[in-house]
Amino acid sequence: MTDANIDVSRPSSARVWNYLLEGTDNFAVDRELGEALRSANPGIVAVARAQRRFLIQAVTLLAGERGIRQFLDIGTGLPTADNTHEVAQRVAPDSRIVYVDNDPLVLVHARALLTSSPEGATAYIDSDVADPERILREAARTLDFSRPVALTMIGILGNVADYAEARSIVRRLLDAVPPGSYLVVSDGTSTSAQSVESQRVAKQSGHPYNLRTPEEIGGFFDGLDLLEPGVVSTSRWRPPPGTEPEALDVYCAVGRKP
Ligand SMILES: C[S@@+](CC[C@H](N)C(=O)[O-])C[C@H]1O[C@@H](n2cnc3c(N)ncnc32)[C@H](O)[C@@H]1O
Repeated sequence: MTDANIDVSRPSSARVWNYLLEGTDNFAVDRELGEALRSANPGIVAVARAQRRFLIQAVTLLAGERGIRQFLDIGTGLPTADNTHEVAQRVAPDSRIVYVDNDPLVLVHARALLTSSPEGATAYIDSDVADPERILREAARTLDFSRPVALTMIGILGNVADYAEARSIVRRLLDAVPPGSYLVVSDGTSTSAQSVESQRVAKQSGHPYNLRTPEEIGGFFDGLDLLEPGVVSTSRWRPPPGTEPEALDVYCAVGRKP
């Protein structure tokens, strides 16, 4: 353990993900698991990149043509280029963003997430996704829950072992936001033998991640109106014109609360 309660003897999902995204905020134990995951499933780096690209695209769309000014980003990860507030405030400087993560190293680096434009605001909540009521209570200091909110959950719901529980968490969060709010989800899927193998490797390392089926990813959006193109492999969500990216073991969608 370090001063900030950072356990460098066990991998953490935020730090392994940072390694796969070529960041420098990781330790030997994270790099070891990152490499084991990559040998099990060489596509995992493309998955991490596709999720970042999707986050940027979805936030740009929502802050732009959809007029959203409030974002609740759960499972933020370590700061990188184009954090949610930077993307949203590039389009709309008055955007307000609340970040949520439970990794102590993300907390240490949170000041990099708290660099709001003067017109907007950012805040950070150190909380487990399993406690949505606490997240909502604390986020209400920064966000106005009588106005639409975009809820972004990228690569986080697989940390909740039980699918029914993951759905319940999403439902409780959506129940707290008004019509016109959005849900943005992308998560790993058991769509190839390599992906299932990487899940086994992760579990064996004491660091389980629960892959879902594409239908289960779609289930998070029950009762919402899906934006085009619906539930698709994340690499195929509004790809650059004229391109047909290969499908990856990760699915996503954006839905609007009617
Ligand atoms: C795979 S990373 C994704 C990071 C970022 N959203 C991205 O797409 O680049 C998952 C993040 O969720 C966080 N996380 C894992 N379990 C969590 C939990 N139970 N509650 C809150 N955050 C959690 C990790 O610390 C990590 O930062």
